[in-house]
Amino acid sequence: MPETQLLQPDEDGINRAAELLRTGKLVAIPTETVYGLAGDATRDVCVARIFDAKRRPRFNPLIVHLPDIDAARRIADFDDAAEALAGAFWPGALTLVLPLKSSAGIAPLVTAGLATVAVRAPGHPLARDLLTRANRPIAAPSANPAGRISPTTAQHVLDGLDGRIAAVLDGGPCETGIESTIVATGPAPRLLRPGGIPAEALEACLGAPLAMPDTDAGIASPGQMRSHYAPGAALRLDADTARPGEVLLGFGEMESDLNLSRAGDMVEAAANLFGHLRALDTEGASIAVAPIPETGLGRAINDRLRRAAAPRD
Ligand code: TXA
Ligand code: MG
Repeated sequence: MPETQLLQPDEDGINRAAELLRTGKLVAIPTETVYGLAGDATRDVCVARIFDAKRRPRFNPLIVHLPDIDAARRIADFDDAAEALAGAFWPGALTLVLPLKSSAGIAPLVTAGLATVAVRAPGHPLARDLLTRANRPIAAPSANPAGRISPTTAQHVLDGLDGRIAAVLDGGPCETGIESTIVATGPAPRLLRPGGIPAEALEACLGAPLAMPDTDAGIASPGQMRSHYAPGAALRLDADTARPGEVLLGFGEMESDLNLSRAGDMVEAAANLFGHLRALDTEGASIAVAPIPETGLGRAINDRLRRAAAPRD
């Protein structure tokens, strides 16, 4: 990877950032909360590159950034509470977790295979301008290496990710400095992560209290999410060959029904993971999965496979 470009917040810089995003590159972008590591949310391989650049050991689902509510309605189903919250707080530091539309065209790696998607219209003028010009949904986790704190200046981004991403668009220090508040609205509004907009303000808008993360048994706070993609099929890991009745998800040069990456490329394997699992996950199927080395994105791939293979009720 060549040197990371520092782009200025002018016409040239924004156009360059938009062009990089349209051509599948990663660009760190300013938002009012923290800098985000942006990539094309419609292409699994771009999303895999985000996880690779961050050296994230797990595939947490990512927030999809859009210029406005109209663009968000194209990928997610808004109920009344979501309409009210977006109407009151967008653009801004609020993320809504909503049912994913089947026609959304969002890469399965963005949602980590879940049926819901996190959407946000950021308020930072540069981010809005860039999202409009990029002309596609943009996935962006905070632009820090895994396990480090979120960056609030372009220099923080470079400190952690220089040489691992194509560019940083310098928008100066972030105004809010902490991540967005995350709310899921169905069946009843609940707080998944406290953040830039206080829960009280959201409750005032809704005219009702929000369920809080520690009082809700079903959903763990993001980051320690218990909910994850669970195939209907049984999964057997570290399989060399398929047993009778099994389909084989391969890795590397081998005979298999589908292969995560014949070349043994981890970015390609991560990009294919959820799509291939879904394709093999048919009624009554058993899926055998070839061993994946615990290196680079292999750790995240194995983490997801183990969760998907774990016994459940
Ligand atoms: O302010 C922010 O939200 C920043 C800027 C860049 O927008 N982004 C950010 O992204 O903080 P990230 O990836 O660091 O945190 C996203 C959180 C994760 O904890 C993830 O678990 C949660 O959003 N999340 C995403 N999709 C979800 C879903 N479908 N259900 C539940 N939680 C979800
Ligand atoms: Mg983060």
